[in-house]
Order: sequence, then C-alpha cells, then structure tokens
Amino acid sequence: MYNVTLIKGDGIGPEISDSVVKIIEASGLKINWDVQHAGADVAEKEGIPLPQRVIDSIKKNKVALKAPVTTPIGKGFRSVNVQLRRDLDLYANLRPCKSIKGIKTPFENVDLVVVRENTEDLYAGIEEKINDNEAHGIKVITRKASSRIVEWAFEYALKNGRKKVTAVTKANICKLTDGLFLECAREVAKIYEGKIEYQEVLVDALCMQLVQNPSKFDVLVMPNLYGDIVSDLTAGLIGGLGVAQGANIGHEIAVFEPVHGSAPDIKGKNLANPTALLLCAIEMIKHLGEFETAQKIEDALFKVLDEGKVKTKDLGGNSTTDEFTQEIIKKLS
Ligand code: NAI
Repeated sequence: MYNVTLIKGDGIGPEISDSVVKIIEASGLKINWDVQHAGADVAEKEGIPLPQRVIDSIKKNKVALKAPVTTPIGKGFRSVNVQLRRDLDLYANLRPCKSIKGIKTPFENVDLVVVRENTEDLYAGIEEKINDNEAHGIKVITRKASSRIVEWAFEYALKNGRKKVTAVTKANICKLTDGLFLECAREVAKIYEGKIEYQEVLVDALCMQLVQNPSKFDVLVMPNLYGDIVSDLTAGLIGGLGVAQGANIGHEIAVFEPVHGSAPDIKGKNLANPTALLLCAIEMIKHLGEFETAQKIEDALFKVLDEGKVKTKDLGGNSTTDEFTQEIIKKLS
C-alpha cells in the first residue's frame, strides 16, 4: 500500500482525478490517497489557496498526483503551482512529448523532452507598480539554479538513452540573465563531453524549428518562462493539452501534474480528457517502482487511443470522460 497525496484541483480537476483513481483501482494497485484540497475553491472558503496541511501532506508522503488549479489572471492570489514548486524546491519540471499511436498530428514520430527550470525567472513574482501607466517585473536567474537544472537535464539524458541536450535562451537580448544561464549550461556541458551532445538555440528560432521539424530536438533545457510556453507548443505537436504529461521533481519529492490548466470552459460537462493526468499517474507508478502495473495501464490506454472508437472531443471524438474511463478499465481486465 502506497501513501500518495492527491490534489483534485479546480475546474475539470475533480473529474479527471476521479477517472484516474478508478483506473488505478481497476489495475489492482493499492494506493492510499491522501486527498488534499488546494486552489481557487479553497481560497474562497479559507482565504488562502494552499493551506499548510497540503504542503505537510506532500512532505510526508514524498509523492503527489496533482490535477490543475485555477489562478486568477492579472489579479488575486499567487499561483498555487508556483508556490508549491518553490516551497518544496521541486526545481525540475519534466515535460515529455512523445507521439501517441492513433492521435493524428502533422508529425508521426515526435519524441522530445522539455526540462523547465521551476523555481525562478519571472515566476519569482517580484513585480511593482510604478504608476497607473507603468509596472516592472524582475527576472531572477542564479548560477545555482541554472547549473542545477542543466545538470539534471544531462543526467536525465544519460539515464534515458538520450543523445543531445539543447540549451534554450534569449541571451542575445537578455545578456546578463539568460547570458548567465548559458554560461552555466556551457560549463555543465563540458562535464558530459563525449557522452551527450550539446547545442544552443534562441527560443524564438526554436519555436519556428519545432513546428517545422521537431525531430531535430531531443532534450531541451530552459529557464522557467520559456519552458512554460514551449511545453504548450510541444503539447500541440502530439495532439494537444489533453495528452501532455508533466512532473515536478526535487531531491526527495515528486509531484506529477499535467501541462494543462483547469479548463473552466468544459468544467462539469463530462468532456475532459483524462489522458494527460493518467500519463502522469503512470509515471508516478513507475516512480513507486511498480513497473508492471504502469505498463499494464499504459497498454490499456494506448490500445483505446489507437482503436479510436472511444475518444474525447478534444481528440475529435464524441465520447464522455466516463465512457473513455470505462473503455480503459475494460481493456485492463
Ligand atoms: P487550459 O489548459 O485550462 O485550457 C486551454 C484549452 O485546452 C481549453 O479550451 C480547454 O478546454 C482545453 N483543455 C485543457 N485541458 C483539457 C483536457 N484535459 N481535456 C480536454 N480539453 C482540455 O488553459 P487556460 O484556459 O489558459 O487556463 C485555465 C486555468 O488553469 C487558469 O486559471 C490557469 O492559471 C490555470 N492553469 C493551471 C495549471 C496547473 O494547475 N498546472 C497549468 C496551466 C493553467
């Protein structure tokens, strides 16, 4: 029996969480879900979106599965995600992007990984309003966080049979901040010379090249903001946000969460695609060491997607979240 913190989140979060919990239950794996609430609904009731008990639960269990939470745009409380990642020092945000059989996209064999620095950059939240017509934000880049994330990306590449790491910056414009990130990347790359190839690209050029020929890239490592934007782009390469998984990883703790948000436009309509959260759960199950169960669930999911008879609206189908969930459970037995 594993103890795992489950944050069901806002919007479609509870629907996709329930789907994933049902599928894991059907696989036979015993998980004791420590359900914790965070996000906009909690903020409304308790005045804060991320109560200390949620952090304590994750610290105790060391593993969490997290559905998306809503962050007010342009006002209101600070992002729960940003706070969680900083408070737990989940410095590496891993966002794999791999084509899935049965999901039609312009490219058939996309297989790359975005590694996003998770603790600083413009997400440090240091902003000030100068007057009604001017506001400033501070981009924080440190040697410690930059070297640490690039090293993590190289180690990930080594452990996962990847061949190349590309550092992504805008160092031609942000000469001091992205310049420092690049300096760190070059230093770390030297340690891996002869083992892993190293490359550099500007973030604007990367975006263009990704939509023309994504197979040029393998592991991409970048500061926080570029990672946020580029990983939505790469989600688009494999079928959209409904199928894009992610994980936030620190020294001891891992929080698995999809790339997508709380999708308020489809909340409560039984339309959400639980695939992204399920892929996160599969990675989480591997992290727990239960490789056989992870494989069993992955096979069932990929079979359903490949057959294409039961698929959610975002993938061009007309099945509900519940129907899709039941179809995966059927394939498990
Ligand atoms: P979003 O990712 O929630 O939605 C963008 C579009 O993709 C919408 O049309 C939505 O219906 C669709 N979509 C997303 N996930 C889907 C799924 N699983 N199945 C089917 N369709 C799906 O992005 P948006 O609208 O910009 O953000 C909504 C809220 O989510 C905001 O408050 C934002 O701050 C928050 N957010 C939270 C994240 C997290 O908790 N990790 C990450 C990104 C955004």
